[in-house]
Amino acid sequence: MYLAVDRKSKTTLIKQLYQAIKDQILTGILKPHEKLPSTRQLGKELGLSRNVIIEAYDQLIAEGYIEAIEGSGTYVADGIILENYKASIQIKREAILGLRHEPKEGHIDFRTGVPNLDLFPKEIWADIYKKICQDLPSLQLDYHEPRGCYDLRFELTHYLRRVRGVKCQPNQILITTGAAQAFTMLGRLFHLTNNCVLVEDPLSHGIIASLEKTNMKLHAIPTDEKGMRTDLLPSNLQPSLIFTTPSHQYPTGSVLPIKRRVELIRYARHKSAYIVEDDYDSEFRYEGDPIASMQSLDPTSVIYIGTFSKILCPALRIGYMILPEQLIDGAKDIKYSEDLHSPVLEQLTLARFIREGYLDKHVRKSNKLYQHKSQLVIKTLHEFFGNQVKIIGHTSGIHLVIDFQNVIFDANLFKQLQNNGISVPSVEDHAIAKGLYRQQIMIGYGNLSDKDLVEGITRIYKVLIEIPKI
Ligand SMILES: Cc1ncc(COP(=O)(O)O)c(C=O)c1O
Repeated sequence: MYLAVDRKSKTTLIKQLYQAIKDQILTGILKPHEKLPSTRQLGKELGLSRNVIIEAYDQLIAEGYIEAIEGSGTYVADGIILENYKASIQIKREAILGLRHEPKEGHIDFRTGVPNLDLFPKEIWADIYKKICQDLPSLQLDYHEPRGCYDLRFELTHYLRRVRGVKCQPNQILITTGAAQAFTMLGRLFHLTNNCVLVEDPLSHGIIASLEKTNMKLHAIPTDEKGMRTDLLPSNLQPSLIFTTPSHQYPTGSVLPIKRRVELIRYARHKSAYIVEDDYDSEFRYEGDPIASMQSLDPTSVIYIGTFSKILCPALRIGYMILPEQLIDGAKDIKYSEDLHSPVLEQLTLARFIREGYLDKHVRKSNKLYQHKSQLVIKTLHEFFGNQVKIIGHTSGIHLVIDFQNVIFDANLFKQLQNNGISVPSVEDHAIAKGLYRQQIMIGYGNLSDKDLVEGITRIYKVLIEIPKI
């Protein structure tokens, strides 16, 4: 019997021996009923202590690979050869960070929705997290209720009332794994009773994917420079949900004026539908005061969705949903069936982070930085393109839209941009009705350095200058 053990390996000798014999049995090298050497003999052959062999054999006996017959010896059990069994696999270690978008050296990516990751207050977060762990009564490590930690829901109630005018009680808040989970949860909550949902066109891929996954039927409502065209809300449909991003339409960046907000609420009331207000990045605003949420106008018709992906970082995966009373129990059941509840230590850390004023401080600091970046982008665009470009949606959020008016961004042009070291998201790519946004691209500036912003726009210019019209 040939068995090799590696004395330098981190795996114990017992485990190595157990694994080697098991592999030989499963692959058929050791045949059913074949007698194994005695523990003393094998120990001598391999230069190992007899105890090591005894322990490995005991484990194999316990799992049924081998059988000890009193007074006779130890034998391979019958019927456990497994066809195509791979005796061992090598675990590969790759030089990757495990990110969805691995950065490429020298490449500038204008993708949207990423805040400045260097700004995340690591030290403060770590300090609070440590204190939370040290002070936490053990009882709190048990399973929690599906809505999430009361502490966080309480702090959020006050925070959102102050900054977004949201009117709710902590019992109406459900903590989710980002806004993404809120979208699928709503699809699951409504698809059996009424799967008709109205969405803005264009809109985020994430919302489309989440709703389609739950069999909701999407009906697109066109948008213009003021957001959703409320004059085009269909009278012949009976929607259960109406998705909107009123404070910073994604992707076009427009802000829904109060007249349209009122029209939308009237329509929702008339149809007994709920408006789903996705308020993903409106804390950042550079002209005038933040616009109050739609939820503040009618808390009974609006489901409000928020996220910490933009004001802190996406890796946190903390979002929330504020529900009218009558939807709370259904949503709790769905959250419970998806993942029981969101991670508790992070929620408690975030609650204290808000309570001690760090979130306000962080938002103020971020706002200043993004205002600077937004202005830099606009200035650089004007320097290169003058009045050939129209800039849209720059008053809030962490991306803006450029309308090149007489340039068509087709697959070929995007490829040329890629070849010149830049990725730019296309608005058209987010549209359901195709053909209206081919002259528009988005610039996500949250996580790019000033140098990369200027360099990226310079590269866009160099590619576009080759096109006859520019
Ligand atoms: C329109 C919109 N809403 C919400 C989100 C936030 O998603 P999450 O909270 O799951 O990170 C995104 C992500 O980019 C988005 O584009």
